[in-house]
Amino acid sequence: MCGIIAVIQKRGVVAPFLHQALKRLEYRGYDSVGVTTIAENMLHTKKDKGKIEEVHKRLNLDEMPGLIGIGHTRWATHGAPSMLNSHPHFDCENKIAVVHNGVIDNFMGLRKELKEKGHKFNSETDTEIIPHMIEDFMKEGFDLAGAIKEVTKRIEGTYAIVAVSADDSDKIVCTRDGNPLVIGRKTGASYVSSDIPAFLPMTDDMILLLDGEIASLTTEGVHIEKLSDGQTVDRDTIKISWTADQAQKSGYPHFMLKEIHEQPNAIRDTLRLPSESLEKAAKIIKESENVYMLAMGTSGHAAKAGRHMFASLAGILPSFELASDFQDTVYGALSDKDCIIAITQSGETTDTITAVKYAKQHGTKLVAITNVVGSSITRLADHTILTQAGPEIGVAATKTFMVQLTSLALIALALGEMTGFKESAEIRQKRKALEKLPELVSEVISRNEERARRLASVLYEKPSLLFLGRGISMATAEEGALKLKEIAYNHAEAYSAGESKHGPIALVQDDYPVIFVAPADDTRNRIVGNIMEMKARGATIISVIQKDDDEIAGLSDHVLMIPETTEPEFSIMPYVVPLQLFSYYMALRKDYDPDKPRNLAKSVTVL
Ligand code: AGP
Ligand code: GLU
Repeated sequence: MCGIIAVIQKRGVVAPFLHQALKRLEYRGYDSVGVTTIAENMLHTKKDKGKIEEVHKRLNLDEMPGLIGIGHTRWATHGAPSMLNSHPHFDCENKIAVVHNGVIDNFMGLRKELKEKGHKFNSETDTEIIPHMIEDFMKEGFDLAGAIKEVTKRIEGTYAIVAVSADDSDKIVCTRDGNPLVIGRKTGASYVSSDIPAFLPMTDDMILLLDGEIASLTTEGVHIEKLSDGQTVDRDTIKISWTADQAQKSGYPHFMLKEIHEQPNAIRDTLRLPSESLEKAAKIIKESENVYMLAMGTSGHAAKAGRHMFASLAGILPSFELASDFQDTVYGALSDKDCIIAITQSGETTDTITAVKYAKQHGTKLVAITNVVGSSITRLADHTILTQAGPEIGVAATKTFMVQLTSLALIALALGEMTGFKESAEIRQKRKALEKLPELVSEVISRNEERARRLASVLYEKPSLLFLGRGISMATAEEGALKLKEIAYNHAEAYSAGESKHGPIALVQDDYPVIFVAPADDTRNRIVGNIMEMKARGATIISVIQKDDDEIAGLSDHVLMIPETTEPEFSIMPYVVPLQLFSYYMALRKDYDPDKPRNLAKSVTVL
């Protein structure tokens, strides 16, 4: 939630860069936007409620003077989206500007204290206490970095904070605890941002900043210190393998559609993960007594599918728990003999990070599956599997889901080889099938795009839809329903087709849409029974089926087609694609922007 960008450079003006960088971060929050630059020892600010381009039209974000500046795109937690609540926030003398991502839990008491001292507040945010506190400490003689260090001793909560001061205007100071910040460097300029794509067109040299560290950025370099003991941190630059082009729409109308189309390549790249890394993950899992998969949202659906892959290929059935509820479910029954597989594309989801930290207190081992190098989860993990989707900008996860599934399939195969649950010949055959998936997914996209668009034009006014599946297809159904809710705002519920007759069927009457995920696996014949039950109650039947399944096609009002047979363990990978496309076209048909669903943000960094 919320996107932060800051830059300091030797030449030129920073405003046009900040504007473009904020657009690349807009997926992180989009209720208001603001930029502050410094020129001739004065702050210049433009900020307002609304999406970046709307605000730019009104205020012209490109026309601001200065070689140093900070910007923010907000996802409100404290105070409604409004001009006054948008970041940056300032001290009383308008000398210090601060942007913040996260939540300051103890802001109320601090705000009261500051007000009693005479500080004037303009917003309802928790953030605004920070510039006022910095103001006080700078008046006591601290420089900007020193003042921020003092502030961190008093604030509680999670934060990424970036600040500039008109009185200390040759540097940007930033610190973090629980929320992401990455630093970018090139000759004559330094950058800091919530996420890599913001500065990727300018540099592919990145320096990590960890929780509990503070960094001062100048045009010449970066100085990092530990907050706990003031020790200087020497940290190497990392080369980012993502390209700036990957973070552009490249002719597609939306990132979501582009990312759906990138799935075949994303699978291909992830299939190249080194076998030693997969074996290391498999070994940790095999040697553990209890294996828990933890994740949220779409990553949770990958985990649920992963359970099926592990069980079927390796004879190991992990438990799945929502990371947000793990602590309230496991009641401390964890040990150093257990392991967690945490799945999070961003590597920053607070629910997941918190659950993992809780488990680590019990010595539990951690295998992390993430798409972001250097993200918070990687620093907690005993072993990380880095999926190869490239940057995903659309808020609705698509290609990162696909690579999570790919890596889970690869781990399941490595694990299967270790446990010997399946004959080696069978494992080899499954591996071959996995290698064919990029091609199959590509064909699924081209064969279903028009079908999904037409289906959306028939169903877009339906207030509610049911998604049903069995076995691994339950995860497919859940992901289909989540995508639809997220971006098209239709009420959609996924149920096990078996469970559907124990309650949900009461909803069904004439023309109620029920979507069946029906691959040609062991569940198929039972699904036919469930289709009959729904049909008997007048439902409109939509099925995702294998091309030659004439029987189910005959029972359905609409079909989405998968051109070939897949191994049952991997069916979710092709079968989810028509549902992604269907949601995308439902959103378009209803005139919603699929890249920026209301109330959501790409990475959820609050509990
Ligand atoms: C996916 O479309 C959603 N935006 C959301 O459910 C997401 O999967 C969830 O917030 C978890 O994110 P993560 O993978 O970055 O941890
Ligand atoms: N808590 C701050 C606010 O409400 C920051 C929110 C964010 O991360 O965007 O403004």
